[in-house]
Amino acid sequence: MAGNWKMYKTPTETIAFFEKFRPLAGNAEHCEIVICPPFTSLSAAVDAAKGSHIRVGAQNIAWAKEGAFTGEISGPKIAATGATHAIVGHSERRQYFCETDETVLKRTQAALEFGLVPIVCIGERLEERESGSTEAVLIRQCSCGILDLTAEQFAKIAIAYEPVWAIGTGKTATPEIAADAHRTIRSQVREKFGKEAADAIRILYGGSVKPDNTRALMAQPEIDGVLVGGASLDPVSFASIVNF
Ligand code: PGA
Repeated sequence: MAGNWKMYKTPTETIAFFEKFRPLAGNAEHCEIVICPPFTSLSAAVDAAKGSHIRVGAQNIAWAKEGAFTGEISGPKIAATGATHAIVGHSERRQYFCETDETVLKRTQAALEFGLVPIVCIGERLEERESGSTEAVLIRQCSCGILDLTAEQFAKIAIAYEPVWAIGTGKTATPEIAADAHRTIRSQVREKFGKEAADAIRILYGGSVKPDNTRALMAQPEIDGVLVGGASLDPVSFASIVNF
């Protein structure tokens, strides 16, 4: 169960979140919890999560180790905060910051190189769904991205299926629509890496996940977890998602 805080919460606000969230869900045994605050709050989150099962992740990662890349944050810097995960290829990065399948793959490889678990996001836009090309888009995003990893690298990632039309819009994909997309992704994985890898890969659903729709989404065997934006900002709401 992953929370993507996007461009919200200072270090002080991060500490306040953990104070409320930890007693409610900090030691959940049935799932892994990852919270992804802005870079500037990573250290505060790692400190505030100490002694709990909660892991902390970045929302992006540079493809290089270091160098002249103004404004980028690299894997070693993220890992030095104690964070363990990095979201890669979120649709907001693709849409507003010119992220492409190619740069997403490079960032995924960098996360793996520096020991971070990449949560790789894919998903179709509204016009792609309406024109019936969802499956083709997912296949392209897989084949120009995660399927270029080695089998050993692939075993270490998580995938998030996030239909762009469902993000921040209040329009959740129905559990059936989400499961259908997850099946498409899993079948691509099966073709490339075999049944064992396809069974083992964790695919999260993201897009307007809320406390009142989590249970129905998680009831789909295809859905292994959720990536939550808006509803992860409030400790009570995210705890009720975790404890669905
Ligand atoms: P949302 O965002 O839950 O606010 O729709 C999900 C995401 O962008 O990861």
